[in-house]
Amino acid sequence: MSEAKITVLDDPQSVYVHAAEEIAHFAGEDICIHAEFTIALSGGNTPAAVYELLGTRFKLSVDWKEVRFFWGDERCVAPDDKLSNYAMAKRTLLSHLTLRNDQVHRIQGELPPEEAARSYEEELKRAFNLGEGELPRFGLVMLGLGENRHTLSLFPGNPAINETNRMVVPVDVDATPRKRVTFTPPVANNAARAMFIATGKAKAEAVRDIIEGPRDPSRFPAQIIQPSDGELIWLLDKEAASLLSNR
Ligand code: 6PG
Repeated sequence: MSEAKITVLDDPQSVYVHAAEEIAHFAGEDICIHAEFTIALSGGNTPAAVYELLGTRFKLSVDWKEVRFFWGDERCVAPDDKLSNYAMAKRTLLSHLTLRNDQVHRIQGELPPEEAARSYEEELKRAFNLGEGELPRFGLVMLGLGENRHTLSLFPGNPAINETNRMVVPVDVDATPRKRVTFTPPVANNAARAMFIATGKAKAEAVRDIIEGPRDPSRFPAQIIQPSDGELIWLLDKEAASLLSNR
């Protein structure tokens, strides 16, 4: 388990640009070594700003035909609902790219939550040709951070934080919409890279608690993300990093 690599930039836009640069770099590395790049997208406004850059300024920086898109979590809504993480990624990035259908593996939020979770587990098994008990190894799992210290849809006190048998589970969370489907920690922690992106003063206490707080994943769910054989990356602006002790 490697130490977190923390990068602090002056302002949110610099964070978004740096994140897009990093993703383009990761994609180039993985396409060169593995002939493909697998990315699990996150929802949220912060990731959305990065997707917008990837679909415009960085569009020519990635060999998109070798990228496969997945989601780390999804709200249990229709794929064209404004609350859908898929709809957000489609609006900000996917619609700007020429992709084959087999490159996009969305979580079917329109299904009943348990069925959506089971179906996505089967999708992961097929997409990564997983044997019994095997986990997918994503090139990158993108992660936002909620002010309540959640990431993916792992919210404080939710039993999904400690799930180790299933790859994808339905959850009922204290946010709108309540019903969601999320990766469990083993999937994120099997990634080659897990990258948090957080900006703004409102995230400073959450960032401090996750990075420097007492270990308490039930209270601070984002702490559970610790890739066992991969990089843990934090991209922060000065405001979000302002309460870290040695920044
Ligand atoms: C979601 C995301 C969630 C998000 C954080 C940060 O579905 O909402 O998976 O984990 O990334 O809440 O969101 P903001 O960047 O909008 O603060």
